[in-house]
Amino acid sequence: MRIIKAKDYQDMSRKAANIISAQVIMKPDCVLGLATGSTPVGTYKQLIEWYNKGDVDFGDVTTVNLDEYKGLPRENDQSYYYFMHSNLFDYVNINPERTHLPDGTEPDAEKECARYEELIRSLGGADLQLLGLGHNGHIGFNEPADSFDTVTHCVDLQQRTIEANKRFFASIDDVPKQAYTMGIGTIMMAKKILIIVSGADKAEIVQKAFFGPVTPQVPASILQMHPDVTLVADEAALSKCEV
Ligand code: GLP
Repeated sequence: MRIIKAKDYQDMSRKAANIISAQVIMKPDCVLGLATGSTPVGTYKQLIEWYNKGDVDFGDVTTVNLDEYKGLPRENDQSYYYFMHSNLFDYVNINPERTHLPDGTEPDAEKECARYEELIRSLGGADLQLLGLGHNGHIGFNEPADSFDTVTHCVDLQQRTIEANKRFFASIDDVPKQAYTMGIGTIMMAKKILIIVSGADKAEIVQKAFFGPVTPQVPASILQMHPDVTLVADEAALSKCEV
């Protein structure tokens, strides 16, 4: 694993955006795996800035997002569909038909997860998968469990995740309790993985995930087994690791 230490959130965002633009420049028709949450917002902002300057072109890019809340319509401003449009897609020249997310409005979980997994496989998996890191070590919405979930599946969100995400909703009761997410196997299929982490509140989980034992209790720890992972984290997030 490559570890790139950034000074702060802004520096992390710029370094991550650099890696993503390098991917797009080297392979303009690449498949980018994208993530939501507060961590990648700055990365997307930086990519938009470089797009506006003519430095990066998304015209031939395909995207697959990690996850989506089950039950939220696309127009809901907390859906990941809405997030991706308002933080990236609407501001760059990406073809909306080549942007993919699980469909949270499909009530048949089995059907939707099978469709999404098949779609990713038919695209050959992501060339570069961007990931954030949950406080409990989750990636996508793969929560700590007794075993690693391999393919796209429906998850019951943990109380801690619901609590963490309630800041985005009017009340905790409005936070969806389930989500569709790529599985660990789907994520591991990506040729390259870029995981970004910021803030002292993630320092402990960064240490556990990347320097502790590989265990489904810390889903991100599986990334230690992937042949091409880059962790871009700021000093605060790396403060409990010796790097
Ligand atoms: C969310 C998302 C994850 C994200 C994580 C961390 O629940 N499903 O993909 O990485 O939580 O979020 P944040 O970046 O806001 O800390």
